[in-house]
Amino acid sequence: MPDLGRDYRIIGFLCNWCSYGGADAAGVARFNQPTDLRIIRVPCSGRVDPMFVAKALLSGADGVLVSGCHPRDCHYTEGNLYARRRLELLRRFLPIIGIDEGRFEYVWVSASEGSRWRDMVTKFTDKIHSLGHIPRMAETARTLCALEGMLGASSAQPDMWHADASGRQPRHDALLHMDDYKEVMDGE
Ligand code: FES
Repeated sequence: MPDLGRDYRIIGFLCNWCSYGGADAAGVARFNQPTDLRIIRVPCSGRVDPMFVAKALLSGADGVLVSGCHPRDCHYTEGNLYARRRLELLRRFLPIIGIDEGRFEYVWVSASEGSRWRDMVTKFTDKIHSLGHIPRMAETARTLCALEGMLGASSAQPDMWHADASGRQPRHDALLHMDDYKEVMDGE
């Protein structure tokens, strides 16, 4: 195997419409970026099943980064809000299966934010380097099975809709409010 200088294995699930464009913009602008990230393009961050993240980490990935459109910019309206709920739940379960929750992150990056993408990926990669390589886990199949059960039991796929007299409406508590958004942005 050629040495590509990729000492750490970090998987990035990027939404096609925003974050993939942001990563591309960073490349076109020739920003210096870490080379540890392997990008998997997905149609929307809402397509990222929490089990994808868990399987990657249990299979030896040192970190997983999920990136999608900013709230209210999702091309499928609410895919990123759906992703946020499921991925937050996953984050809480990671320590239970013996994985440092710092090895997983999700961020919002638009197609025009090449410099933001560079900053996000650099920050996350630095964190993974400080955590070191992920320890080898025993009985990964059993752990995955248990996690799948826990996520299922905790409503990992919440119903974001309710019916009223005017038809199906988004559930108020399923939406991401500006306060949540600020919290996410401030935390980055
Ligand atoms: Fe980008 Fe939904 S299309 S997060």
